[in-house]
Amino acid sequence: MCGIVGYTGPREAYPIVLKGLKRLEYRGYDSTGVALLDNGHLNVYKKKGKVAELEETLIGKDLHSHIGIGHTRWATHGEPSDRNAHPHLSNSGELAMLHNGIIENYVPIKNDLLKKGYTFKSDTDTEVLLNFIEDIKKNNNCSLEEALRIALKRIVGAYCILLVEQNDPETIYAARKGSPLVIGIGKGEHFLASDASPIIEYTKEVVYVNDYEIAIVRPDELILKNLGNEKQTPFITKLDMELASIEKGGYDHFMLKEIHEQPDTIHDCLRGRLLPETGQIIMSGIDDNLEALVNAQRIVIVACGTSWHAGLIAEYMIEELCRIPVEVEYASEFRYRNPIINRGDVIVAISQSGETADTLVALEKAKEQGAFILGVVNVVGSSIARISHAGAYTHAGHEIGVASTKAFTGQLAVLSMMALKIAYAKATITEERYMQLVRDLHAIPEKVKEILKDTSNIKAIAEKYKDAKDFLFLGRGYNFPVALEGALKLKEISYIHAEGYPAAEMKHGPIALVDENLPVVFVATKDSYYEKIVSNVQEIKARKGKVIAVATEGDEVIPGMSNDVMFVPDTDEVIAPLLSTIPLQLLSYYVGISKGIDVDKPRNLAKSVTVE
Ligand code: G6P
Repeated sequence: MCGIVGYTGPREAYPIVLKGLKRLEYRGYDSTGVALLDNGHLNVYKKKGKVAELEETLIGKDLHSHIGIGHTRWATHGEPSDRNAHPHLSNSGELAMLHNGIIENYVPIKNDLLKKGYTFKSDTDTEVLLNFIEDIKKNNNCSLEEALRIALKRIVGAYCILLVEQNDPETIYAARKGSPLVIGIGKGEHFLASDASPIIEYTKEVVYVNDYEIAIVRPDELILKNLGNEKQTPFITKLDMELASIEKGGYDHFMLKEIHEQPDTIHDCLRGRLLPETGQIIMSGIDDNLEALVNAQRIVIVACGTSWHAGLIAEYMIEELCRIPVEVEYASEFRYRNPIINRGDVIVAISQSGETADTLVALEKAKEQGAFILGVVNVVGSSIARISHAGAYTHAGHEIGVASTKAFTGQLAVLSMMALKIAYAKATITEERYMQLVRDLHAIPEKVKEILKDTSNIKAIAEKYKDAKDFLFLGRGYNFPVALEGALKLKEISYIHAEGYPAAEMKHGPIALVDENLPVVFVATKDSYYEKIVSNVQEIKARKGKVIAVATEGDEVIPGMSNDVMFVPDTDEVIAPLLSTIPLQLLSYYVGISKGIDVDKPRNLAKSVTVE
């Protein structure tokens, strides 16, 4: 997490850095800071809070500079505060550095530096690394580049750092291991950032820096080296994203915009891949590796957060349609528990950002053990996309709201196509069912559009229940992970405690919570579990719980038993989550805004969790 931006070139650096930080705030927003170098003066301005708060305090200041670095923080070491905000200055005041990541062995290094008389103004691991670099430079009487290289070889952890030196008005030193770094190549200028969004309006030519590389960046020069001091050839990639995709486009929040984009993003995801007339599904990453998938003894899905919920839905789909055993793992558990990986296992990684540290490391470990890795990723060129053997992009476009919405439905669309392809190749479903599912999937974007046509009912429901202290979300079968996702969404952006549960399992515990104050959201669309969930609704009604149902249009039974209903169009149960999740996204959104919460940047969260 944390967003970083840098600029070196003929323009004023501050506006570029500031604008870039605003675009990266989804990565963290505990505190903000910039370092600007002008005429041999290294000026650092930093403050607890969001980028706009720093901007306000700097109005009227002389911020002239042609080289600058900036940071928006998600706190790891040290509470969010002015003094823990980045960039940090070294003890001599000659170096300024910012960092996204964690230095795990910072304690012994700090102790050594303390013995040598260094003092620290913050609680951060970053300030330790910075003074470590300074100390090496002094002791070895070497260049900053050399000192940086020596220091990076001795630290353990993850980092993306930007470093500037008082007496060098042109150079930004950058390095990465585990945290992303993109460098934009302009005419006589360079831009550095955690992702391409701060760069896109200036240039479409970028270089994705690899782990263990150091970049020496000047207006006219970009040198890449590995930690062994060998030059690397920068691989220039052309961005295919548009500026409009990272702006709000008339919506009050990115989250609302992203919810409303779903008919298009799902359509984009299916376009050219799913051909309803012939029933063909063309996905090169899957086609080229179909044999591995068809013969897989087991599929292990590794993910975090909302992506993990997409994995659970995929488990239901793949086991039912393809008859392949599936396990769904939290990446953070999988990476540490020495899991058994057999020949013939396929690991499917699901990630919006493609940068989630736990998922990334879990995959690296599985890869070392010989597993075949298939990435289902949204951000093109991200770390997970790059370390996967093959994959399929979700094509949901840039997702900025911290709570994932359109990326989730993009993941479901990709995973549905993947399951259908494998099932067809294995002949584990009939041709008729296959064709029907292809057609149903093709019809999803239009049905999402229908749900989004009028959201006033969902808004009214949100208003009615916004003061509840707790919520329960229940579902069965394919709708059970949807209930989990509904609960997660509500927690994330309304700060209301919510639990998702399998509707029948509710009897083994959560039912004790039910009283006339507890809203219980049933994801109860018409599927093979329908009769069972009707009984579960009765059980809640009998205990005076307030029932809010997601029901299928035309159904009269569930609505008749519920206090409030949100309708979705009918579809096959395998792909029903693509529809039943939409009202829950909107419910959370409207509860969040009615409580005055900044739903795009809810407290303590970050969109891209690049620390473990
Ligand atoms: C964070 C985000 C979630 C996301 C999760 C996994 O917690 O706030 O929205 O689901 O990370 O992220 P990924 O990018 O790997 O899907």
